Amino acid sequence: MGPKPVILDVDPGHDDAVAIMMACGSPGLDLLAVTTVAGNATLPKTTRNALRVLSLVGRTDVPVGAGASEPLERSLRTAEDIHGESGMDGPRIPEAAFEPDERGAVELIADTLKESPEPVALIPVGPLTNVAAFLRAHPELKGRISRISLMGGSMGLGNTTPAAEFNVYVDPEAAREVFESGLPVTMSGLDVTHQAGAGRAERDRLRGIGGVGEVVAGFLDFFAGTYERVFGFDAPPLHDPVAVAAVLEPGLLRTRLMNVEVECESDLTRGETVCDLHGVTGRPPNAEVGVGLDREAFFDLLHDSLKRL
Ligand code: RIB
Ligand code: CA
Repeated sequence: MGPKPVILDVDPGHDDAVAIMMACGSPGLDLLAVTTVAGNATLPKTTRNALRVLSLVGRTDVPVGAGASEPLERSLRTAEDIHGESGMDGPRIPEAAFEPDERGAVELIADTLKESPEPVALIPVGPLTNVAAFLRAHPELKGRISRISLMGGSMGLGNTTPAAEFNVYVDPEAAREVFESGLPVTMSGLDVTHQAGAGRAERDRLRGIGGVGEVVAGFLDFFAGTYERVFGFDAPPLHDPVAVAAVLEPGLLRTRLMNVEVECESDLTRGETVCDLHGVTGRPPNAEVGVGLDREAFFDLLHDSLKRL
């Protein structure tokens, strides 16, 4: 079987940057396009960061389509406290060597799906605004999507409010439309991404690769500092690369099929992903939700992908 065709939708963001590099360094994936969304930082910053990361790893062949600068209905919430003013503070990397694709996110996704000989996995790892906008604009292309492997949500506590994880909190209406799309969804929520903490040992192992590995370790050193200051974590979770690994090596993620609903009405619990693990609601299952991660295999996969760059 050839490499799996994928599109990444990102809001770089340190962990988004690592997810992009992981996809580029994995022969098991064919990264067809990257689309950007406002989230960790404003759209101009997340787009600039995506272009810089692809330029750094020599993948200026991958088109980058800029998408939504605001959530569907809400005002934007960004995360400079975690990712810094630029959205990707830490080691300086060169400016981008290419420009965004003039089609923008929705039409770039549409054209990419139409041109692909086989269905494409969408891997959104920021607020789901672009994916919802695409599904609204091109329902006729849903059949060209093999799976949506998203980073977002939580079966338990949130990280932005006690109830909500950041990506779903920022645009809960978009997340609700994705979970209700009828497409196969794999949700890598905080329950599994918090098992992917890049501690000092993992960072030094990546640093030892040299080159891109050194840059990634530098990014993660910055990320470790903000995660320690804001959350008291001793290791910053590699949230977004887990959603990539779930497509690359599905066996790394243990999932349970269940119904997931997104709270959009309450101010107190806005953005909560209500995960019916035990099927008590009788609502139809609509997502494979990550409940366990093979942490060692995950970091081996990440290490091997970065070594190839
Ligand atoms: O809650 C973690 C998610 O929010 C990650 O995707 C991170 O990059 C931020 O977008
Ligand atoms: Ca992200």
